[in-house]
Amino acid sequence: MNDYLLSDGRELEIRLAEESDMGEAAETFRQVASERVYLDTEEVPHETAGIWGERWKENGKDSLFAIGAVGGRIIGGLVLTPYSRSPKSSHVRTLGMWILKEFRGLNAGNSLIDYAMEWGRARSISKIHLGVFSSNTGAIGLYIKKGFQVEGSLKNNALINGTLVDEIFMGLEL
Ligand SMILES: CC(C)(COP(=O)(O)OP(=O)(O)OC[C@H]1O[C@@H](n2cnc3c(N)ncnc32)[C@H](O)[C@@H]1OP(=O)(O)O)[C@@H](O)C(=O)NCCC(=O)NCCS
Repeated sequence: MNDYLLSDGRELEIRLAEESDMGEAAETFRQVASERVYLDTEEVPHETAGIWGERWKENGKDSLFAIGAVGGRIIGGLVLTPYSRSPKSSHVRTLGMWILKEFRGLNAGNSLIDYAMEWGRARSISKIHLGVFSSNTGAIGLYIKKGFQVEGSLKNNALINGTLVDEIFMGLEL
């Protein structure tokens, strides 16, 4: 058990996702995706857990799939994946993350990013990059708090509940 705490005092375990976690982790991703406002993904196919199990056999080597768990229940996850296959960007990872609705605003996202920053620094990764919808003020608030800076945007790049929003690109130098 590591030392992370939710702001309500409960212990938050953060660790590498294992093959046996993939069913539950995919279900948390499915629930957040089904809200349809925060993630590009809206539908998570049934086969996802099996696909993730194969894809993440070497979790922690070049890429990171960290999960957060409270009382043994997975509440969300964070992935860092290579930006490209090119050696030119071997120092860059792209971040994605999600927390179940009932666990938001309790410091879990903040703790997952701390864990990811530590993992990245230990591997000479010097930049984390992400894209976020301009309507996602909660996520943007978290990224700014962690030191991310806005690097650019694609205007009117997503239609969310009938409104066009920008995709904002943010970067963090580690
Ligand atoms: C974005 C998300 C991962 C943040 O995780 P979280 O556990 O809710 O965030 P935390 O409780 O750790 O918040 C940490 C900081 O983020 C900022 N923040 C969080 N929610 C916020 C909100 N609704 N508005 C403004 N800032 C917010 C605050 O600075 C907060 O620090 P504080 O508590 O000291 O004020 C989570 O809300 C989530 O899963 N949302 C849906 C999926 C999603 O948006 N994924 C990211 C796609 S780019």
